[in-house]
Amino acid sequence: MLFRKLYLQAAGVSLSLWILGLHVWTASASVEPLTYLPHDLQSYFNTCHGCGDLTEQTGELAYWHVMQAYVNKFAENNPSLSESELSYFHETLAHSFAPYRSHRSKRQVAAPRVRKEIRAMTDAERVRYFNALNQLKTNTSLRPNVYDALAAFHQGANVQRAHFGPAFPGWHRLYLWILETFLRQQDPQVTIPYWASHLDGEMTTPTSSVLFSDAFFGPGFGLPITGPFRTWPQINPNTVFTRNLAAGTQLFTVAGINAILRRRRNRDILVPTAPADSNFELQHGGAHVFIGGTMNNLNAAARDPIFFSHHAFVDQIWERFRLNQRAAGIPTATDYPWDPNDPRIRASHNPNLTAGFTTVGSPFNSFRQIDGFSDDFFQLVQYEQVPSCATGCAGSRYLRCNTATNRCVSRSTAEVRAAGINVDTQPGLIPAGRKKRQAVQRNYEVCDRNWFLHDVNVNSMSLASPDDLRNTYTNSWSYIPVKIITKRPTDYIDFQKFSAYGSHVNGVNKQPELTQFGTQKSYEYCRDHMDAPGKIRIVAYGLNHDAYSEEYVISDNRLAVSESIGVIAVKTPTLASSDVMVAAFDICGRVCRPYCKSEPDTTHNHVFAGAFKVSTESPSMYSASYSDALLSIWETPTDGACPSVNNNLVPLIFFCEYTDHWIWGPNTSPAP
Ligand SMILES: *[C@@H]1O[C@H](CO)[C@@H](O)[C@H](O)[C@H]1NC(C)=O
Ligand SMILES: *[C@@H]1O[C@H](CO)[C@@H](O)[C@H](O)[C@H]1NC(C)=O
Repeated sequence: MLFRKLYLQAAGVSLSLWILGLHVWTASASVEPLTYLPHDLQSYFNTCHGCGDLTEQTGELAYWHVMQAYVNKFAENNPSLSESELSYFHETLAHSFAPYRSHRSKRQVAAPRVRKEIRAMTDAERVRYFNALNQLKTNTSLRPNVYDALAAFHQGANVQRAHFGPAFPGWHRLYLWILETFLRQQDPQVTIPYWASHLDGEMTTPTSSVLFSDAFFGPGFGLPITGPFRTWPQINPNTVFTRNLAAGTQLFTVAGINAILRRRRNRDILVPTAPADSNFELQHGGAHVFIGGTMNNLNAAARDPIFFSHHAFVDQIWERFRLNQRAAGIPTATDYPWDPNDPRIRASHNPNLTAGFTTVGSPFNSFRQIDGFSDDFFQLVQYEQVPSCATGCAGSRYLRCNTATNRCVSRSTAEVRAAGINVDTQPGLIPAGRKKRQAVQRNYEVCDRNWFLHDVNVNSMSLASPDDLRNTYTNSWSYIPVKIITKRPTDYIDFQKFSAYGSHVNGVNKQPELTQFGTQKSYEYCRDHMDAPGKIRIVAYGLNHDAYSEEYVISDNRLAVSESIGVIAVKTPTLASSDVMVAAFDICGRVCRPYCKSEPDTTHNHVFAGAFKVSTESPSMYSASYSDALLSIWETPTDGACPSVNNNLVPLIFFCEYTDHWIWGPNTSPAP
């Protein structure tokens, strides 16, 4: 009785929802599957699928890549610089090239900028780098400050110039050069450290890496309230970044890098012509997804300084690739895979077009897409090798040699602390004026693995025309319950007894969907990262508006078959429907298959791509709060019988079968 009373108080909305559910269904409901994806989205999926199935690439990475291309249409372009800002910008860049230009005229030889793995730097070098970043963050020579102005180059039309095509490595090479040039104005000895993320990917628990201690990049969850960027939330709340580690653990792998390095032509590693196993841009997406939060959104990713270290590693890999090319006699500066007759290649990736850093007519309109492929960079920048066991992991206190693989791996924060090294403060870091924050002793070693934040993110990319959309959409969220059905992953090896796989009742396989192995996919990193409490990640992107949300559902990997309930957040529909695309993945990035009802009151028999519209039609199938949505599907009979879930009130079910099925097409949508 008490339970019931509390329940009614807590879930008034849900009560009315399930009463509605008992009524006769009309032909429509507020949550209905979309028969077709938007045409542009479908073509991105088709292009992505054309580069390979899910045997080499994970569904999560393919989906992330495609959705980033799609939601870019909601993003603002980078703001234009004023006349005086432009001249400051151009002058700074001109100075950066001057020594090298004179080198070419055989006068002065300038030393190349040498970039190191961040754990192979001395503590003093690392602190100087973070100091220079902080100086850019407070320097107002560009608005709102130099760091934010440069970060804004990575949004809107520039995201299209920089991604989803052959300009990818060259564009980011120019971008690194520009940021580094501004950093070196603050401190001429600074170079951007690279983050070799496979050093973390090979840890048992990458989220516990020392990289996320305050002596390195700061906390891996939420706002950067401690660590080197601890003042950033106050400096500019509009551009502050967040993190949400380990949405998926798909950092660079040695096998993936080697597949790239075995190739000799850029067309074999760049989108859209690269085969799946050596698709460089796709592989790079893993670190964006792993860091989560702001890094998960290309239009804002550069606000998090870890972006530049991730891309310095991308550049380091590309440099190794280019050195191989040179050794093979291939002309590196012109090996730009451009084919005007290939409709999959974006026009903005034409090698002669601007990379989008400078305005035409400026001294630097020579920053064209092809300029990132220039051989000048062989002189301008050099990379230290990734620390190896042969060199004692570069003598770093933050790395150790894993003798099983003979490769270096990162130490965890706890390991480094246990060795008596202080990684909870940043000695010598400026700005220093503020009251010292007390070092927080955190011991996440165990919890880290399963910790996560729900992320509900609106206007992370500013709306193209806020006024139009403000009239159409409320600025609130609604919540929709989803059910997740999982089988024990085949590569969860700790608990294989009583498996459902291959089980038979009286010699007859009664549940083929649940008992067969199918084409279960095991990616390289799955086995090492299969915790007992499995994590299913559900992500939702707005299709006709700018919104993103993610949710995590725990599925117990020890159970043969299990069922759990999650809730996804979507923008509340008003005059127009909120069209949303939802997908779910396990920790290895394997796709869960979405099912919905083709008709109300039927079973969830309809396989679809995961796109649906949420409208104000009745019966309403969304709730005003997370907890309401969670409770809305439960029926608590008045006769004191056991509460149970009413499947009719669950619009969407994901079946996580761990296969490599491609579920997004192709060609389901008619031409517009
Ligand atoms: C920004 O940095 C430049 C280069 O160090 C310096 O000349 C300028 O005075 C700084 N501007 C501000 C407003 O601090
Ligand atoms: C780019 O410009 C060069 C020099 O004008 C020209 O030779 C080349 O054909 C152009 N490439 C493309 C793809 O337009």
